Amino acid sequence: MSGRRIAVFGAGYVGLVTGACFAELGHQVVLRDVLPEKIAALERGEIPIYEPGLDELVERNRERLRFTTDVAEAVEGAELVYVAVGTPPTYSGDADLSAVWTVVDELPDDLDRRIVLVMKSTVPVGTGDKVRAALDARGLKNVGYVSNPEFLAEGTALHDFMAPDRVVVGGFDPADADAVAELYSKLDAPIVRTDVSSAEMIKMASNAFLSTRISFINEIANVCELVGADVTAVAEGMGLDHRLGKHFLKAGIGFGGSCFPKDISALKQLAGNSGYHFQLLSSVIEVNELQKRRVIGKLQKHLGRLRGTRIALLGLAFKPGTDDMREAPSLVLASRLLAEGAQVRTWDPVASAVDLLPTATQCDSIEEAIDGANAAVIVTEWSELADLANPDVRERMANPLIIDGRNMLDPAKVRAAGFAYEGIGRPSHETGLGAATTG
Ligand code: UGA
Repeated sequence: MSGRRIAVFGAGYVGLVTGACFAELGHQVVLRDVLPEKIAALERGEIPIYEPGLDELVERNRERLRFTTDVAEAVEGAELVYVAVGTPPTYSGDADLSAVWTVVDELPDDLDRRIVLVMKSTVPVGTGDKVRAALDARGLKNVGYVSNPEFLAEGTALHDFMAPDRVVVGGFDPADADAVAELYSKLDAPIVRTDVSSAEMIKMASNAFLSTRISFINEIANVCELVGADVTAVAEGMGLDHRLGKHFLKAGIGFGGSCFPKDISALKQLAGNSGYHFQLLSSVIEVNELQKRRVIGKLQKHLGRLRGTRIALLGLAFKPGTDDMREAPSLVLASRLLAEGAQVRTWDPVASAVDLLPTATQCDSIEEAIDGANAAVIVTEWSELADLANPDVRERMANPLIIDGRNMLDPAKVRAAGFAYEGIGRPSHETGLGAATTG
């Protein structure tokens, strides 16, 4: 099959990954963005986001990738026009669709052929109906509409695109949906064909369910702390049940990122706007907010008043493998610590919070961050932290206390190395039993 001609509107995270991966699959891609400096950087071969492997992928597919700010140039010759613009939350919790509407409004009136507008951005259920109505009102009957949501997780986005669990395609017209499904024909993935609203809901419900699992295991962790159980063993034992599965059962200091917080708030808001109170999601959000703050109580348990203490926050990004600081739990945690009067020293291998946390001290190395610290908190499970409980770190700290907000260290080894250790949902003292073993 020869490649199709695809225009991708929005050269942000999703647009770049989608465009580069479609090029890798042999399609001709034009990426269009409103920001001239971003397009100029891309033309120079500079990738504005941190995503493992993306720069090599773009480089390898340079011949099939073009970049432009010009709408007419992007749409000219395109058979499919992907919308991959941002849909950030508004103050009400609804998704801000203004960038989506701009793309729809920018489509030329005088198309001489059929094109398919494909929604990759995460949008509330019902958006497809509204866009269809707007296209019809403009007389653009030769513009088809298909929902083809993305399931890309930052840090593993290229793998998620090229080896997806499923590709979801929801169209008004079966021929348009066929055209979109065909783009993925080289991939070994089930194609889920639905109506447009169901495709939109699959995306929202998937993120909502994953978030629900995290808040659920975080609450189990909090109960584990009270009753002396170990949530890592509990999650392992639960996860072996094939009906439950092992994924998204890692307890920690809460979920962040540009997707879960925004998408669950948008789904809750959508339900509310439609006359339904989505009670479960309200709890998922509330549990997550409280979870980000629980480290404060753990620090107080060991240090008493936090005023004047020096706390090292290790990791800033909302998860490893990305420099994304959107809704990162580190921001809430650092702000709470600063409000308590603690000195906050941060370290992250790629993310920066210099502008977001101007009164915290951002350090270039783990050593610098923990120097003279009364406690070190693992906020993001970067692999660089796997060996944190070493003699050099213990020497440098004013007080050898590690709060492991991601349960990445082995408590017995950390304690044996002379540190006090607190995880999330793990017993405060040695129980004599390690993590669960299977055999
Ligand atoms: C998420 C989804 O996983 C993707 O499928 C989806 O396409 C994407 O949102 C999106 O809507 O665009 P992402 O936000 O990149 O991807 O990151 P995740 O790996 O899902 O992690 C989200 C947060 O949950 C992180 O803060 C992570 O630390 C936390 N998490 C994850 C846990 O606390 N425990 C877990 O077991 C898993």
